[in-house]
Amino acid sequence: MSESGCQEPATRPGIPSVGNRVTVVLGAQWGDEGKGKVVDLLAQDADMVCRCQGGNNAGHTVVVDSVEYDFHLLPSGIINPNVTAFIGNGVVIHLPGLFEEAAKNERKGKSLKDWEKRLIISDRAHIVFDFHQAVDGVQEQLRQEQVGKNLGTTKKGIGPVYSTKAARSGLRICDLLADFTHFSERYKVLARQYQAMYPSLHIDMDGELARLKTYVEQIKPMVRDGVHYMYEALHGPSKNILVEGANAALLDIDFGTYPFVTSSNCTVGGVCTGLGMPPQNVGQVYGVVKAYTTRVGIGAFPSEQNNDIGELLQSRGKEVGVTTGRKRRCGWLDLVLIKYAHMINGFTALALTKLDILDVLPEIKVGVAYKVDGQTIPHFPANQEVLLHVEVQYETLPGWNTNTTSARSFDELPENAQKYVCFIEEHVGVPVKWIGVGKSRESMIQRF
Ligand code: GDP
Ligand code: IMO
Ligand code: MG
Repeated sequence: MSESGCQEPATRPGIPSVGNRVTVVLGAQWGDEGKGKVVDLLAQDADMVCRCQGGNNAGHTVVVDSVEYDFHLLPSGIINPNVTAFIGNGVVIHLPGLFEEAAKNERKGKSLKDWEKRLIISDRAHIVFDFHQAVDGVQEQLRQEQVGKNLGTTKKGIGPVYSTKAARSGLRICDLLADFTHFSERYKVLARQYQAMYPSLHIDMDGELARLKTYVEQIKPMVRDGVHYMYEALHGPSKNILVEGANAALLDIDFGTYPFVTSSNCTVGGVCTGLGMPPQNVGQVYGVVKAYTTRVGIGAFPSEQNNDIGELLQSRGKEVGVTTGRKRRCGWLDLVLIKYAHMINGFTALALTKLDILDVLPEIKVGVAYKVDGQTIPHFPANQEVLLHVEVQYETLPGWNTNTTSARSFDELPENAQKYVCFIEEHVGVPVKWIGVGKSRESMIQRF
């Protein structure tokens, strides 16, 4: 010890070790890019798969042995029997929804039989109540009546629950597991606030509280102090940790096409805040990009094709929402969006999905710039009115008119398909590591 009380340099601790790095999978467009499929692929070598934001507004499809599983709140990686799934503090949880989803998937495949033993839930995660979902519906109806346009939400209560979180009146998993009488009182205060705001709203408080009570014993073994749990995972023995982003960059509450967005940060910052993890632990950040663009719900969509092309992409791509069953709007790939998503997320590589859907097109357009009043604009516009009126500048590439679904290596793809992939990586400045040519695990070409 020196006179100042500081340790001598030789005994002072060095720079703390960073610990394990996590691999992050994020949507780079408006969602439904195929994140579930990419996570499933990577989960084959993972020990842990985490969700850090969003709720059961997400719908992630995984196809294994021709069986299709839909995940909404459960991390899709749970389908790998060696994986521990972690739902972080940034996620909002509708407990009946979680159990229904698990039961539905459990009936489909034996690897999910022990899901309850492999799921960990952060005690800081906020709870979505039935009335949040009802309020979501009422707010949508009011938007329609008052401004003639709603947001097209999934009505899963996402906006209302993140609002109560920000207003500091929300209830968390740790509250449910503590004193139930106190929990019930706080629940009723919140429910009455909503009733006062929306007098037509009927809330069955006693009914919902009774249902919630039945989950207490069931979830108790799954609940942990999320920060501590994550710290141990990062600093214990070497672990392969994956983060499954939900929703996508253009739906992000800060960076998306506001107000037509979801209510959480679906970009890389949400990983740290939603798991309680330092940024140094972020390793690879994979952006998932669909080979064309889709969007569910309302909002500007510059490269949308309200024509035969849009219809062809919709029907060939089976573009129907996993959560709401709505038809997805379709258009050309828009690289202005992808570059913008890359500026925020710092993608280390891309996974390009659904290339096979383009197999029948004689030529393919790709959006490369936006013009407003005849002038190319240098940024992705924040203002929706501007975005609604941008003129997309396209490059036209030749199609390949060949079925790619059986290709298993880059070399097996037709030359024009290879050129399409190279055009994307050169334009965005990020390598394309995987190329999807079908729904199954096997139909994902890995390039390096
Ligand atoms: P997520 O929300 O990003 O996980 O994506 P969704 O599951 O909502 O939507 C993607 C859809 O495309 C699912 O039906 C997948 O099975 C399917 N899919 C993913 N990759 C490919 C691909 O490369 N080719 C084809 N044809 N379908 C794919
Ligand atoms: P995955 O993870 C596509 C959209 C909704 C709506 C807007 C707000 O499957 O890619 P919300 O219910 O979140 O308040 O709705 O966001 N949206 C998604 N669209 N894929 C998703 O998730 C989405 N999650 C939210 O359609 O336009
Ligand atoms: Mg989806």
